[in-house]
Amino acid sequence: MDLASFAPHGLYVPPPVLEAAAHVSGMAAYRKLVAQAQADYGGYWAGIARDVVAWRTPFSKSLDESEAPFYKWFADGTLNVSWNCLDRHVQAGRGARTAIVFESDAGTVTRVSYRDLLARTCRLANALKARGVRRGDRVVIYLPMSIEGVVAMQACARIGATHSVVFGGFSAHSLRDRIEGAGAVMVITADEQVRGGRHLPLKAIVDEALALGGCDSVRDVIVYRRTGAAVAWNPARDRWLHDECAVQPDSCEPEWVGAEHPLFLLYTSGSTGKPKGVQHSSGGYLVFAAVTMKWTFDLKDDDVFWCTADIGWITGHSYIAYGPLALGATQVMFEGVPTYPDAGRFWQMIQRHGVTIFYTAPTVIRSLLKAAEADAAIHPDRYDLASLRILGSVGEPINPAAWEWYHRNVGGGRCPIVDTFWQTETGGHMITPLPGATPLVPGSCTLPFPGIEAAVVDEAGNDVPNGQGGILVVKKPWPGMIRTIWGDPERYRASYFPPELRGFYLAGDGAIRDAGTGYFTITGRIDDVLNVSGHRLGTMEIESALVSCTELVAEAAVVGRPDDTTGEAICAFVVLKGSRPMGEEARQIANTLRNWVAREIGPIAKPKDVRFGDNLPKTRSGKIMRRLLRSVAAGQAITQDISTLENPAVLQQLAEKI
Ligand code: PRX
Repeated sequence: MDLASFAPHGLYVPPPVLEAAAHVSGMAAYRKLVAQAQADYGGYWAGIARDVVAWRTPFSKSLDESEAPFYKWFADGTLNVSWNCLDRHVQAGRGARTAIVFESDAGTVTRVSYRDLLARTCRLANALKARGVRRGDRVVIYLPMSIEGVVAMQACARIGATHSVVFGGFSAHSLRDRIEGAGAVMVITADEQVRGGRHLPLKAIVDEALALGGCDSVRDVIVYRRTGAAVAWNPARDRWLHDECAVQPDSCEPEWVGAEHPLFLLYTSGSTGKPKGVQHSSGGYLVFAAVTMKWTFDLKDDDVFWCTADIGWITGHSYIAYGPLALGATQVMFEGVPTYPDAGRFWQMIQRHGVTIFYTAPTVIRSLLKAAEADAAIHPDRYDLASLRILGSVGEPINPAAWEWYHRNVGGGRCPIVDTFWQTETGGHMITPLPGATPLVPGSCTLPFPGIEAAVVDEAGNDVPNGQGGILVVKKPWPGMIRTIWGDPERYRASYFPPELRGFYLAGDGAIRDAGTGYFTITGRIDDVLNVSGHRLGTMEIESALVSCTELVAEAAVVGRPDDTTGEAICAFVVLKGSRPMGEEARQIANTLRNWVAREIGPIAKPKDVRFGDNLPKTRSGKIMRRLLRSVAAGQAITQDISTLENPAVLQQLAEKI
């Protein structure tokens, strides 16, 4: 490998002490695993599956391709995910071990042991059963970051109910769509969510969602009392979590399910239409969450792991609710935001809890970097971060400057950074360094996880030479992969296995492999999906939200533009029904539209820029020229050919900031 020539920003080899003790120790060990997977793919994954998961009934075969691309893994094996995450450790004499160190927004710390987590999970599982929730039923979870959130997910897994967690930042409309899409029989929520000192009335949002209609499948709403705030109450439907659980025993026989039983749905944005319900399995998913947890973070018994993601996203599923618990780890969980009471909160928490593995998003690093540069009092060097040994990054590309800062100032120059590329659909890490093996290059997610056949191809599915960009695909199915889109198998096939790609999984990202090392660099989405602060949003979703404001909006087009902190920012180009507004009026209408989008989708989808024009740039055949709009949004000079443009004058208008 010619690494030095690939590393204009420097090259970081694993610290020898870390490498020596690592689960995957050194590049030779990495290559050996890759070779094993190549030589006997089924046998390789079977070995891992037996190592990291305890099966009730052993499986006889790893991969069933008979209905490709609807792949099955370990299909005749049975297990229970919650038994694997909880009972297994208690029965092994590790019940007193701390499972979760929970820190509230205000700083109160609560510890829960594996034994307690099991008891709480069983009580809720019994309560769900008492309310008639059965194997295969769907339960929507709309909870803040809380031990209750993990308990709710585990309780569903215990009784074979399929959960669908909805992030607290989604609006009543989005929540309604997800409840309706899943056909949920129950919603589990809280009176309020508290983040950065601000209260968000989750129960009231659930009430609003249910009142919007289409949710007749919901029989019960279970409410966790987080703050004690007054909430409207429908006695026919609403029940307090503590009342429901108080009358239940703290043991509950798990429901043994087949490996392919749907553990959860998680809605995520695609390039067209409504968000899609990504369906994950029980067996393959748990195998993949557990082995990636173990190898990518080199998890050991004495580690204190902290993933800062919300349980409403896939990262919070695989690396809070399932991966760490499957391995019996101790983890920190945080209710609040990185900037409250000040932007030193994360560093203070690492110090307070002796965190050894810290996993966060580039957008967080960038904003804390800025804050630390502005105020030395909250700089990471003011805290004792010596407990850290491994850092991680997820959700979007990490720019080399942020990487270097993270490495030097948070990791003290001694902690490898695992830049993990993966997706809601992949269930776990796909391309990532292994901290005791892979030499690091800032800005590159390096090499595929052992057993993952990632490749860069052209539009016909042919490999492109290293050094040349192309489409990122995965050539073979893997245990943690999406099984289908809930209720829409054809969309699954069309979105992820387009015929021209010869059966390869289409990730939706562009990538380039370095000519010397073969290291991957992700170049961003190749479809109309945006990544704002690591939140995935479809441009079409936001456009539909805007044009649904029929009183004001005639037409809208949404694109992303680069943003220093959030990675991408949402830029909306709008044609109003009335005349093009100017000055104060433009500002007011822009705000109205932002709030409208927040109401339709959620605050995370609010456009940062709103620009008004008399029209949108279109070709003579009437197609909106999105590439042109991307240049305008980014403030770039127009280099594209605009000779086919119907109305070039509007470009001037759309370039004007409000
Ligand atoms: O574009 C890639 C980007 O995030 C997308 C997946 O988003 P989501 O399903 O919400 O899952 C995010 C958490 C796993 C990808 O298609 N992405 C994720 N991680 C990285 C990344 N882009 C570059 N580098 C990464 N490490």
